[in-house]
Parts: sequence; structure tokens; C-alpha cells
Amino acid sequence: MNYQHILEQVSQEASALAGEGNVASYIPELAKVPPERFGMALVTLDGQVFSTGDASERFSVQSISKVFLLALAIRQVGEKLFERVGKEPSGNPFNSLVQLEYEHGIPRNPFINAGALVMTDVLLEHLPDAKAAVLDFARLLSGSSEVDYDYAVAASERATGFTNIALANFLKAHGNLHHPVEQVVDAYFHHCSLSMSCLELARSFLFLANHGILPHPTSQPINQSTNQPANQSTNQPARLLSVSQTKRLNAVMLTCGFYDEAGEFAFRVGLPGKSGVGGGIAAIMPGHWAAAVWSPEINRFGNSVRGMKALELLTTLTGESIF
Ligand code: DON
Repeated sequence: MNYQHILEQVSQEASALAGEGNVASYIPELAKVPPERFGMALVTLDGQVFSTGDASERFSVQSISKVFLLALAIRQVGEKLFERVGKEPSGNPFNSLVQLEYEHGIPRNPFINAGALVMTDVLLEHLPDAKAAVLDFARLLSGSSEVDYDYAVAASERATGFTNIALANFLKAHGNLHHPVEQVVDAYFHHCSLSMSCLELARSFLFLANHGILPHPTSQPINQSTNQPANQSTNQPARLLSVSQTKRLNAVMLTCGFYDEAGEFAFRVGLPGKSGVGGGIAAIMPGHWAAAVWSPEINRFGNSVRGMKALELLTTLTGESIF
């Protein structure tokens, strides 16, 4: 398969949608991002790397970080996580207060904001420093020690994140948040502000296409409590999640990764994936590859317009999807 040629064709065809959608502005710092940016990367399990456009430029991954939170939370507490958060598609906006009220403080799934606030609370309980753990995990997965939080984006969301603070208070009122609201939202806003490129994101999702095993050639076994390589001297592929845990995480991506547009994404693209309001989307073709695309103009559901089109074209042109 000539992925490089296909990515270039995808990029060209998707450019017809430039100008559709809007750059997220409810987080003021995100409104500064140039709307015309477009990057895409695809990395295969056997180590091939393909990219086009602005694939090396870092952007705010926002809700894509919820995939890292879910992996870490499952590693820490396993199935018990689902006593505090559901696993059904929400069919509602990602920041819905109404649904949380209706369902008595149990978020419908881990990928809506309320679900990610609960996962952040779980990480605060089980890891010495949840902010550092998520950052270290993103560095480990991407193989890039330079991945970092964008502190200006985190501060910008902190200054305007009233809906998330309301969600956190609501969770607290229902006994589903064990740490102070301020501490949970501070960690959550930082997690969302992770800044990564398409190349780094695609690489970070590879373990989900590989039954939970990090495929980097220099992988080390991972210490469960620190999430760091346990032994610098070995050269074993690192298992991050069990086969079963990976299946569950990918199932949640497929059914809940795009909020009230999850059906549309499955219908058009046919892959498990996750979007963010920064305009990024990461998706996996199990057993084969992971891909990431970035185009900051998003639709009313919070999903990148050109990004969705690009992934639809990718699975159409390659004939590769999970279906
Ligand atoms: O909490 C928020 O609203 C943002 N930090 C993240 C939302 C998001 O990315 C939804 N995704 N499409």
C-alpha cells in the first residue's frame, strides 16, 4: 500500500473543505491558532512513518488526552473504574450538565468531560502526581521527551472553564469526586493542554493497535506505579494494557470518541478514534497502523471538519477499516 501517495491525495481532496467549521474560541488561547493548518501522519506497527502537511507542528490535543487518562485509569483500578463512570455513547454534547444531572452524577462514558474529571480524580488518588504522570505517559507513548503541556492554554481554560467547574461541582455533590474541585479541574485543564504533533500522536496510539503493547524498538517494561520504564537495561516490548483492556478501550473510542457524532464517524470512517476541540483526531487500524490528523476548524459537535473528511478518505482509498 502506497500510504504516502494516499496521504497526499487525502490532503488535497480534504482541502476543499477549508473554511468550513470554526476554530474553537471558548478557550481564548485556541482561537489564536491559524485555521488553515492541516497535517496528517500514519505510522505502521512495523515502523514505517508517512506524513503530509503540518504533521510535525504541535497543537493542543484537548480531549484526545482522555484516551491517555483512560489507559492510565484502567491500569490503576481496572474494571472498578466503571463503577464511577459508564460506557455508553452519550448522544449529547461533551460538556452536558443536563445529562449528568439526569444520571445522578455518574458520567455516561469516560470521554465526555464529566467522565474525564472522574478519571482525573482516580489518577489523583492512585498516582503521586497526576499531572506529571499523564505528561510522562504521553512522552513514553510518543517516544518524545519534548512533549509538554501548553501552560498558556491551561491557564486560558482555567480562566474561562466555568462549565467544567460546574460539572466538577455537580460530581462532588453526588459523591463522585473525592478530591477538591479546584485540584481536579487544575489537573484536567493541564491534561487537555498537552501539545503534540500528528506524528507524535499517531505514534502514541500505536499500542492500541497492537493489543496493548508499545511497539517502539527501545521499549522498556513499565513500572505499574510510576508508569516509567522499570529497567533501563532490558529491551523488551512493553505491555501497557492487557489484550482485554485494550479491547475495552478501543470499544469505548468507537462508541464514544466523537460524542453526539460517534455514529457519523463510525459510519464514514469505520475506525476507533478520538477527537479534540484543538482540531486533532487520532484513530487506529488494529493490527496495522495508527493515524492522526489536525485541522483546527471544528463543527458544532467539536470535531474537526477536514480531519473527519481526511480519515474518511483514508479508509475509503485504502479499503482498510475495522468493518
Ligand atoms: O474541557 C473542554 O471543554 C476542553 N478542554 C476539551 C473538550 C474537547 O476537546 C471535546 N472534543 N472534541
